[in-house]
Amino acid sequence: MAAYRYPRPPASEITPRGLYEQRRTFMKGLGSALFAGALPGSVLFTSASSAASLETERRAFSTDESKTPIEAIKSYNNFYEFGTGKDDPKKHAHQLRTDPWSVQIEGEVEKPGEVTVDELISRYTLEERIYRLRCVEGWSMVIPWVGFPLKALLESVKPLSSAKYVAFETLHDPEQMPGQRRDIIDWPYFEGLRMDEAVHPLTILAVGLYGEVLPNQNGAPIRLVVPWKYGFKSIKSIVRIRLQEERPVSSWEARRPNEYGFYANVNPNVRHPRWHQATERRIGEDRRRRTEMFNGYEEEVAHLYEGMDLEKHF
Ligand code: MTE
Repeated sequence: MAAYRYPRPPASEITPRGLYEQRRTFMKGLGSALFAGALPGSVLFTSASSAASLETERRAFSTDESKTPIEAIKSYNNFYEFGTGKDDPKKHAHQLRTDPWSVQIEGEVEKPGEVTVDELISRYTLEERIYRLRCVEGWSMVIPWVGFPLKALLESVKPLSSAKYVAFETLHDPEQMPGQRRDIIDWPYFEGLRMDEAVHPLTILAVGLYGEVLPNQNGAPIRLVVPWKYGFKSIKSIVRIRLQEERPVSSWEARRPNEYGFYANVNPNVRHPRWHQATERRIGEDRRRRTEMFNGYEEEVAHLYEGMDLEKHF
């Protein structure tokens, strides 16, 4: 894929004030930096040995399936901090002030500290990754994210050998996030990954989509994207990342442990108590399609779970 410059937003676009300010900083921060597109597979998946496997890896980073139209990506959301309806985040997320924004990194690391999103944007090469997003409720999308590997950030703080898991936390501010005034989940929204999942080359922190600054409703200014897991693992508007020895308990797991496991790997063979998981509806399509194991990323990630009973560790 050809590298391209960060495109200017169309003049016609009506942008909430906060997002507009953020965009200006984003563009200033990027300067002449280029999106690298999918990096050559060999750089990221060292196991690749043949042209065929390089091609497989390239496809994993950027599926060639049709992208979901941007309007759908920005209007059909889950972001309970702004309400439980799919159209609530679009209506209310403009209340979130995303600039300035910093992320605290702490726990079992040599170099804890705070870093601004602007600094992250200028520090790392931003890549476009076209990933499938599969929601536990049965719908899916194909989204061209803009971001950088979480691994790069984790390495920069020098994890100690005691760091076995990574925990993530969303901003807690009921004044800006009206949904947090209701007892839907245990606020702030909290998620976790095992260390090997966190440093997997498919795992990214996204700061944009479709070449634009991340819309507030999609988790501005920075969110996690773990494409082989259900969407709820992809925590939005992150303010804290903590490396720790104990396994974190996510907000959803704490609320309903029989429905939401720690791993949350897309698994069509494990029934959710309230939904079938064997099929899904791609937003914009009428038909249902078969759900793939690990959301179609089996080749890249199945080895992480070798020997585990995936019916028990769901
Ligand atoms: N992050 C926070 N902080 N709050 C949420 O309610 N919802 C999750 C995830 N991240 C959520 C969140 C769920 S259930 C999904 S499916 C995805 O965000 C949806 O991402 P999208 O709205 O960008 O498609």
